Amino acid sequence: MAGFADSGRVRGFTRVCRVSDIPDPGKAVFEVEDRFIVVFHAAGQFYALDDCCTHDGGPLGEGELAGFEIVCPRHGARFDIRTGRVLCMPATMGLPPHEIKVQGDDVLVRIHE
Ligand code: FES
Repeated sequence: MAGFADSGRVRGFTRVCRVSDIPDPGKAVFEVEDRFIVVFHAAGQFYALDDCCTHDGGPLGEGELAGFEIVCPRHGARFDIRTGRVLCMPATMGLPPHEIKVQGDDVLVRIHE
């Protein structure tokens, strides 16, 4: 699922969806501030990373989510969705996690530069 975040902003946070829009476990890609962000829902929590593998730009939002790990669909690198830490080759660099806030039924993201 890809979508565009609506214009609702709260002190640097951008509303991307409702809690119920992403199944648990599940993920969805949104455009926030001209970047594609993948928002994960796992074990009742939300997490957000760039939708761009650090190995060669693979679309992480199209990868398999296994527990708290996302597998890059291009060459199989794995990342911890909670921290962005890289867990296996061929990627060697992690991704900075974006900040998530759940406010009522809204899921908001603040981009980490
Ligand atoms: S682009 Fe992700 S593992 Fe190569």
